[in-house]
Amino acid sequence: MSKKIFSGVQPTGNLHLGNYLGAIKNFVELSKEIDTNCIFCVVDLHAITIKQDPKELKNNIRETAATFVASGIDPKKNIIFNQSGVPAHAEGAWILSCIARMGWLNRMTQFKEKAGNDKEKASIGLYSYPVLMAADILLYDATHVPVGDDQRQHLELCRDIAQKFNNDFNVKNFLRAPEPLIQKEFSRIMSLKDGSKKMSKSEISDLSRINLTDDKDQIINKIKKAKTDTMPMPSDANELKKRLEAKNLLGIYSSLTNSSLQNSIEVFAGKNFSEFKEKLVELLLSEIDPISKEIKKLLQDKSYLDKILLDGVEKADLIASKKIESIKKILGF
Ligand code: AMP
Ligand code: TRP
Repeated sequence: MSKKIFSGVQPTGNLHLGNYLGAIKNFVELSKEIDTNCIFCVVDLHAITIKQDPKELKNNIRETAATFVASGIDPKKNIIFNQSGVPAHAEGAWILSCIARMGWLNRMTQFKEKAGNDKEKASIGLYSYPVLMAADILLYDATHVPVGDDQRQHLELCRDIAQKFNNDFNVKNFLRAPEPLIQKEFSRIMSLKDGSKKMSKSEISDLSRINLTDDKDQIINKIKKAKTDTMPMPSDANELKKRLEAKNLLGIYSSLTNSSLQNSIEVFAGKNFSEFKEKLVELLLSEIDPISKEIKKLLQDKSYLDKILLDGVEKADLIASKKIESIKKILGF
């Protein structure tokens, strides 16, 4: 059976190493598989759940598309599009919000984190965000959804929504419950400044993350300044439970070299962090610097990026509008 891949990235700026190792690198590999159809969405409707500056949003939409292409996704062989260009997403989200239960959404930890202490002031969109995400996936009958670990709960909700729809309307297997594709290891890259916090676009300190648009000097500087501890490099995985920054940096190293954490521990056991950091910088420069340069080059040609997105919208719309018509028929519209 051929695989249908769908995934999304929010155009909210500062795409970083966590996005890359947790999600985009996996997109690239999947996009090269034979017998696999891939759709990668710039989820601009998700972005506006938190207030965005319209000009910046437009730039960020292009930059996200440029990042997909610069990382190695071929826009001729895969669909790259922005969500707001295909009306079925918003329509599907409304319909599915009548299927999803408040109790299910109340359990979503990402909403709790993003809304912070003042939940009364969060937008309704931020709360129902996972329902829109479910619509994204279900409109394309996606079989597999590659994401970072933080999206696991949203994918479970998507499966629950699909099952309830199918049961409520007695349409067995009509909405297809997708399988999550989450890396077994290193699916959560942490901040360079605090090993207990996720690397994030919105963290104020730029030193907490490697941006995919960082140049050589920035990468070198950020790794130099990355938090470590005063002990030599660990020689045992058990030590890492309390040495979160060392664990994160070794995780990044392992992910970049496609090796196991255990293997990386053995390579550097007892050595100084400075020696390890030198190697890590080398790896990051060889993987990220070409992508950074390519993103900047692509951003010079806005009309090329707009054309990729428009072509993608056209192709995605053909699939999604058919599915939404079937959904409406089932509902009795
Ligand atoms: P977002 O930027 O929230 O739209 O996320 C895009 C993709 O990157 C999603 O699949 C996330 O799960 C993934 N992601 C975001 N931050 C991290 C991180 N720190 N580590 C691993 N994956 C991440
Ligand atoms: N919620 C995802 C994130 O923040 C982005 C997203 C939106 C997505 N729709 C999706 C991911 C559909 C996978 C499939 O990372």
